[in-house]
Amino acid sequence: MSADGEAPRLVGLLAELTHRCPLGCAYCSNPLALDARKDELGLPEWTRVFQQAADLGVLQVHLSGGEPGARRDLVAITAAAYKAGLYTNLITSGVGLAPEMMNTLREAGLDHVQVSIQDSDPAEVDRAAHYPGAFARKQRLAAAVIEAGLPLTINCVVHRGNIKRIAEMVGLAVSLGAKRVEIAHAQYYGWALRNRAVLVPTFEQARRAAEAIDYLRLAYRGQIVIDAVAPDYYARWPKPCVGGWGRRSINITPSGQVLPCHAAQTVPGLEFWSVRDHDLSAIWNRSPAFNAFRGTQWMKEPCRNCERRDIDFGGCRCQAFALLGDAALPDPACHRSPHHGMLREIAGAESGQDCGVVFRRSGAPAV
Ligand code: SF4
Ligand code: FES
Repeated sequence: MSADGEAPRLVGLLAELTHRCPLGCAYCSNPLALDARKDELGLPEWTRVFQQAADLGVLQVHLSGGEPGARRDLVAITAAAYKAGLYTNLITSGVGLAPEMMNTLREAGLDHVQVSIQDSDPAEVDRAAHYPGAFARKQRLAAAVIEAGLPLTINCVVHRGNIKRIAEMVGLAVSLGAKRVEIAHAQYYGWALRNRAVLVPTFEQARRAAEAIDYLRLAYRGQIVIDAVAPDYYARWPKPCVGGWGRRSINITPSGQVLPCHAAQTVPGLEFWSVRDHDLSAIWNRSPAFNAFRGTQWMKEPCRNCERRDIDFGGCRCQAFALLGDAALPDPACHRSPHHGMLREIAGAESGQDCGVVFRRSGAPAV
């Protein structure tokens, strides 16, 4: 339970079904050490977890990865989420999932599909995904989503190499039939931190991108919803990461560890509980990791007495730890943090570098 009282109501569940993935994206924010296939939760375990989540009041589950299409029991897992009464969103790279599967998944109860694209330019998509033919596969899968009558969201991770093509990426999302597009700046956790110097945009690029998004929202009003958040390294205020630690959502790793956020395992000293050992309700209400940064008692100045502490919750704990070595400090993305200047300094120094990218998987065929 929080030091401030009752645990808040859980709303969303990110189910990382597997860490396996055919792509090799440089901006992958999954951890450096991936869960092995032999350790993945099986169908009966996910079925139990979905029911426990529904009993806790969870409304929607995001079936994610890695690439969830790598799970041979994806249809049965989807059906289990549906039977538990959850709104079910599949998050896929579009590679490793046969287009013919879309009708089957819809019949199993799938409600929504999010397909990621790396770029608008086919050759750049294949290069960034480190997978020949990735663009063509993504196009085919997006078409199958629409043909199956499912709502489609397109997700574009933007970085220094593609940020100038935001308009083209939004145009591509519209042409694919999406009703929503997410412009998500790369987050420097896990593998992506290794590639920060390749990925971080210049200040001028970030400024132009923000202008482009304002323009595109007007130009495409009524056609597509554009979700976008300013990149942390040039932000004035931090984002309310995961809606606040232990406030709204949970991540379950392929092997069953329950985390308050995607990168929580990068913060040392936290004790995570597993769905293999505990009921989800006990984990949400009582596990040490969830209560570590719940509420506001853990906050240090200037967050502790800030009027925005219940709006952004001090920003991102994982970013505070990654950059400052203390997860209880304000996220340096906040201009009230005494360390705010370091983000601009890092971005300024690294965005001018010309260095090689490290793709996620050395086994993927090079493009
Ligand atoms: Fe948010 Fe803390 Fe900055 Fe206030 S000082 S705006 S609570 S990060
Ligand atoms: Fe962990 Fe932001 S990614 S709190």
